[in-house]
Amino acid sequence: MTEAFTIKNVSSRWVLDSRGTPTISATVSTKNASGTALVPSGASTGVHEAVELRDGGKAFASKGVKKAVNNINRILSPALKGIDVRRQKEIDSKSIKLDGTKNKQRLGANAILGVSLAAFRASAASQNKQPFQLLKGKFTIPIPFSNVINGGKHAGSGIELQEFMLAPYRARNFEGALESVCETYYELKKIIETKCGKQYTGVGDEGGFAPPLNSKEPLELMQAAADAAGYPKMGFAIDAAASSFYKKGAYVIGGEKRTVDWMIDFYEELVEKHKLISIEDPFHEDDWLGFTELTTALGQKTQIVGDDLLVTNIERINKAIRLKACNALLLKVNQIGTLTEALAAAELATKNKMTVMVSHRSGETEDAFISDLAVGLGCGQIKAGAPCRGERTAKYNRLLEISESVKTYAGRSVF
Ligand code: PGA
Ligand code: ZN
Repeated sequence: MTEAFTIKNVSSRWVLDSRGTPTISATVSTKNASGTALVPSGASTGVHEAVELRDGGKAFASKGVKKAVNNINRILSPALKGIDVRRQKEIDSKSIKLDGTKNKQRLGANAILGVSLAAFRASAASQNKQPFQLLKGKFTIPIPFSNVINGGKHAGSGIELQEFMLAPYRARNFEGALESVCETYYELKKIIETKCGKQYTGVGDEGGFAPPLNSKEPLELMQAAADAAGYPKMGFAIDAAASSFYKKGAYVIGGEKRTVDWMIDFYEELVEKHKLISIEDPFHEDDWLGFTELTTALGQKTQIVGDDLLVTNIERINKAIRLKACNALLLKVNQIGTLTEALAAAELATKNKMTVMVSHRSGETEDAFISDLAVGLGCGQIKAGAPCRGERTAKYNRLLEISESVKTYAGRSVF
């Protein structure tokens, strides 16, 4: 090991995420380089996710992260000093051992992930490389899955389904893809203004509009917007995030309790009508049977994505493979808490012919790490919100920057 790559210091402070909630900033430094990472945070968090450490108490509505900051400064920092920053696996396994719990609740998955990603950035910087260049995939600019209508826990719109996305998989390159998303987004704003009123053109947590609609209407409005913008063949996708409307043994849509069979018919109708290319979390996080039934019915035509179902966790991905419960993995690094484990999850999925979509969280920051992750994995898909709000555009702007050197746009090749 040469001295240039030795970790000299690890430090942390709290910063704000896009909902004004404290989150972790972590920095790892070597002699001549350093890397900083900011940690995202979900709202429709899966119960099987690794656990964020929050302070409790009165400050910041109990969501402070001072304990997690201290755990980095006082426990992780001394333990990691002296390790070669290029040895990501060693860094992550040391943090996991120091934590000692199954879900990282002692030191906090937020603390551990901050250090993991900061080390990755520091490693890239110390080798004069871009972060994505440290990954082993075929470098590809992903299709942006852009959430332009927000429901569920991300907005007060009353729409049960959480996300309605534009997915310009037919575009020839990333710039064209992003242009089609933006122009459709402008048209959608006009349509919502006419249909619902100007007061409903404000945006939800992920930058999409949050008008009062039922769960079938958003895709109709989005198709009209795409047509008006000159992109009649725009692709569409949804994230139902069904755990959040599953109440006392039933899926509550339009105020009515619905069964798995009713939900399957509902999704089939949406796929037929709007040619959905991707459906995420159509059932709640432990409804393996519902997932398997839908994947059997629609899995040849469309992507069935496991987010809360899989939580980027190898054990749950293995179960999904066994049960044929879904055919795609939503990859969120903070669901599992280290980069090493997230990469292992992506590899397991890919080996088993599942597609992979890298994802932001609803609580985000200006850190655009996920753009590098999606390009470096070559997985071809990223979910990063509407082309609106700085924490979302940071991801798209980073992809624009990378696309100056990486020319391949994933496009149709993904499906
Ligand atoms: P979350 O939502 O970040 O609030 O969990 C994103 C998603 O469900 O994909
Ligand atoms: Zn989701």
